[in-house]
Amino acid sequence: MAEHVRGGNSVATTLTASPHDRFRVKWVPNAMPHDFEVLARAILSGASDAIIAADRDGVITLWNPGAERIFGHPADEAVGQSLDIIIPERLRPAHWRGFSEVMETGQSRYGTGDLLSVPSVRRDGERISIEFTIVPLKDPEGRMTGMVATLRDVTARFEELKTLRRRLAALEPS
Ligand code: HEM
Repeated sequence: MAEHVRGGNSVATTLTASPHDRFRVKWVPNAMPHDFEVLARAILSGASDAIIAADRDGVITLWNPGAERIFGHPADEAVGQSLDIIIPERLRPAHWRGFSEVMETGQSRYGTGDLLSVPSVRRDGERISIEFTIVPLKDPEGRMTGMVATLRDVTARFEELKTLRRRLAALEPS
């Protein structure tokens, strides 16, 4: 949903996924030479964070270089597979329960900005810790078509925190 608004002394363009969204993307076309496709391409081709989209059935439809780096699956192998390839077996029932519910209702229990922290598994079997946010994908009529997630590898920080907690517990009088 794009609209042009006058703010201050420049005309800006704002964009939201739906008219009810609280936060908006806002940019000044003349001050920014890039069009949306250039921006989208730059963000999606980054190798820092993983960006993964899935369709209504949880089949992977988008896998960016960050996902390849963090999870070890090349995009050619990951696209078309189930999200299960990154979800440890014991967490799959909870994930799919939540996923199906969001697909049916369009409502997530997680608000904008809420982080999900979960363990994950790489292609080589190594366990990692990730934090991620999810955004629903909807068609122009507002029907759910899938989800897109931005995921970050936080293993180093998580391990450091565990070590600090262990040390603190050892210092506390029993
Ligand atoms: C390592 C990868 C992942 C793990 C371990 C995982 C695990 C989980 C778990 C445990 C839940 C249930 C949370 C709860 O009940 O509070 C959940 C919910 C969910 N997950 Fe995943 N997930 C992963 C990746 C993804 C990805 C990549 C997507 C989207 C593309 C996704 C979409 C969802 C959705 C939509 C829900 C329902 C949230 C809600 O209840 O509002 N998950 N997941």
